[in-house]
Amino acid sequence: MSTPATAHPTKRDQAERAMRHSWFPVARSADLETPQSAVLLGERLVVFRDGSGTARVTARRCPHRGADLSQGVVNDGSIGCPYHGWEFDGADGTCTRVPSLADQSRIPSRAAIRAYPAVERFGHVWTVLEKPVVELYDPVEWRDRDLVWLAADPLDSPTGVAAAIENFRDVAHFPFVHKVSMGPTPEVVEPLEVRRDGVDVFMERRLDASSGDWAAQGDCLMSYHCSAPGFASISYHYEQAGLRVVAGFPSPVSYEQVRIFWGVANERDFKGDSLEECLRVEEMVYLEDMPVVEHLQPREVPWDAEVPEFSVPADLFTLNYRRAFGELMNRTERLLAGEHTPARN
Ligand code: FES
Ligand code: CO
Repeated sequence: MSTPATAHPTKRDQAERAMRHSWFPVARSADLETPQSAVLLGERLVVFRDGSGTARVTARRCPHRGADLSQGVVNDGSIGCPYHGWEFDGADGTCTRVPSLADQSRIPSRAAIRAYPAVERFGHVWTVLEKPVVELYDPVEWRDRDLVWLAADPLDSPTGVAAAIENFRDVAHFPFVHKVSMGPTPEVVEPLEVRRDGVDVFMERRLDASSGDWAAQGDCLMSYHCSAPGFASISYHYEQAGLRVVAGFPSPVSYEQVRIFWGVANERDFKGDSLEECLRVEEMVYLEDMPVVEHLQPREVPWDAEVPEFSVPADLFTLNYRRAFGELMNRTERLLAGEHTPARN
């Protein structure tokens, strides 16, 4: 018999648990010249690059007297506290030095901080709080492509991860929210062909050059790919220019607050606009979304049907993303049930 983590978890509980077992970005790689502070699902973290160049993520609170390690300095493999100089190893969190001690063998043995996995990908540093339920995103459509990333300034929004992803990949809002950046776009949404595979959702749309500025680089095939909980991307396959990409990674500061890390990438030999220009255009689009999305009620997808919602065929991608998130919740519950099952011979 397995024992669920709580007797009757709500879907919201399950969503929160699933996210604790999922990878999220906590800093941009380009910002790691100094230690960066981050908050992931309420956990206060410091992200830094150690002396060998490896990105590290640890708890931010010094266990001596509670100073903030993001104000500290890096010494080889360790982060040093700004207050009394205690040093903690970035790989495993052990205390490696207490400057006030004449004899370093007398470091309190339990004086350690928690260290988390850290992986750099898509111009960002990613971490996961608990044993991951799925691997870090590695979209099949990018695997044999040489993509050069430019990470944008992160955006803060008082919404949940799923609400942020749904906005990123919604297509019916273009003629209302993106009139300025995209120009006139059709209100009627064609039948969407959406495919879900486990926690991944895919859709393709065609964009022709006659649809204005938005398609200035000619006809293209847009491949949408979302992955639960926090990955959304569009790959623009231009017939002439090559591949360019925009991707959003909302990271939950708390259940109802995200820091949206995001970026653009071009194939190394892309023949269209520069990365900086792509970023400028996509940022204009994002900034149009923000004022609408930050007033959504509730702030996160109502997993427990706590408010009524109505859907139409234009919501097909969104609905599949919700199923993908549901699949992630189920996998997380199974993972936890397995962990709580006593080992048997
Ligand atoms: Fe960190 Fe004292 S508070 S070393
Ligand atoms: Co939008």
